[in-house]
Amino acid sequence: MLTDKLRFLWGFVRHPREVGSITPSSRFLARAVTSHVPSGARAVAELGPGTGPITRVLLERLEPAATVLALEIDAGFCADLRRLLPDARLKVLEAPAQRLPQLASEAGFPTGLDAVVSGLPFANFPPPLRREIVQAAYDALKPGGVFAGYGYAPFALPPLLRSVFGSCRLGYEWRNVPPAFVISARKPASAPGPG
Ligand SMILES: C[S@@+](CC[C@H](N)C(=O)[O-])C[C@H]1O[C@@H](n2cnc3c(N)ncnc32)[C@H](O)[C@@H]1O
Repeated sequence: MLTDKLRFLWGFVRHPREVGSITPSSRFLARAVTSHVPSGARAVAELGPGTGPITRVLLERLEPAATVLALEIDAGFCADLRRLLPDARLKVLEAPAQRLPQLASEAGFPTGLDAVVSGLPFANFPPPLRREIVQAAYDALKPGGVFAGYGYAPFALPPLLRSVFGSCRLGYEWRNVPPAFVISARKPASAPGPG
């Protein structure tokens, strides 16, 4: 939608490093990222939803009993998401991704999330912040839970996922501007859960 693109572009003009792209993810990329989320997942977090292209596809994929916690630091994007995606399963939290474990627990998921989906521009972040966010996602997941995100280059997120999760998988989606790597990892089933 043109208005989504303009709102996103305005977000980029205000906070270029945090928004990290001039256009929202395509529906193809959103499908590729969310395909890693089990359709029966009940507790899912999305980090950096922006104008919501991945959020929309995620909500289409999930069942009525699911909850999506969307953590976004831009107040304008949060207000727009609440207005434009009035879905009872979606809880938009104006908060940084680093706070995910605490927020997931407070939202009623102390034993962990089934999946964490990321729209964050990891390559733009300093390495300590990248690690902090990946560790927060890992800590918030249940054993066996899934992390999925994307990036325009394979140097920022994959090495960190290998270090924190033990391994990661890479795919590629051409039908996006620019084309993007689709990056996913699974928390080992033998790992301890949150808390
Ligand atoms: C590249 S945009 C992606 C937006 C959307 N997911 C998409 O695919 O089009 C990154 C988003 O992450 C948000 N963001 C950046 N740093 C964040 C953080 N530490 N915690 C939560 N959101 C953050 C930005 O405000 C922006 O909305």
